Amino acid sequence: MFSGVFSAGVVKKALDRGIVRMAVHDLRDFTADKHRQVDDRPFGGLEGMVLKPEPIFRAVEAVREEAGAKVYLLSPQGRTLDARLARELASETQVILICGRYEGVDERVAEHLADGEISIGDFVLSGGELAAAVVVDAAARFVPGVVGKEGSVRSDSFAGGILACPQYTRPREFRGLKVPPVLFSGDHKRIERWRRRKALEKTARQRPDLVEPGALSPEDRELLEETPHERKSS
Ligand SMILES: C[S@@+](CC[C@H](N)C(=O)[O-])C[C@H]1O[C@@H](n2cnc3c(N)ncnc32)[C@H](O)[C@@H]1O
Repeated sequence: MFSGVFSAGVVKKALDRGIVRMAVHDLRDFTADKHRQVDDRPFGGLEGMVLKPEPIFRAVEAVREEAGAKVYLLSPQGRTLDARLARELASETQVILICGRYEGVDERVAEHLADGEISIGDFVLSGGELAAAVVVDAAARFVPGVVGKEGSVRSDSFAGGILACPQYTRPREFRGLKVPPVLFSGDHKRIERWRRRKALEKTARQRPDLVEPGALSPEDRELLEETPHERKSS
């Protein structure tokens, strides 16, 4: 599952260049019985199977490179992944992500092994692998050198608290749809101001929670209030 996801793109390049390292471990390699069993029936008569604690504790103890390595369980019950968490993870030397399956993971892993639980949203996936890949991709983007131009990470949605500004490329006109003329003005100050205004407007429209009172600087608030009627024109 992981080799497919990381076989292309900026994270692959970062892995190839050694800027980020990633290792995938099979919990079955940390079992002690001949059937290499990683799951068992839950106590108390619930349906399904649950991942056993022993292989997970053993795996984490084996792959942990230093005592301070952060350990997270992927779980729909965890802290929801956002840019802030991705940036926090990017600043760690080693992060160990535990992927659940079946009905989940013995609760002792969350309570006594992991530093926390991470969710990628309020829905349930069949396993933690896709979620872990999302976490790795989002965090890796904040590791210096992974994304070619670091400025582009800083201007991405959420990095500065709001959504990114709209982008256009050639042609200047497509099926009668024109690129906003300000972008050809050559006036960089004006373009910057326009971009900021558009980003604020789109955030207010699509993610009003991000522009709630107190969330914006007085300059941004003023800029946003300047342009209530613009929508599809420049
Ligand atoms: C079918 S889910 C188990 C869900 C569990 N029974 C519950 O309701 O909380 C199996 C595994 O997928 C992963 N998973 C599912 N949804 C997730 C999400 N939204 N974010 C992160 N991991 C998730 C977790 O590792 C979980 O242990």
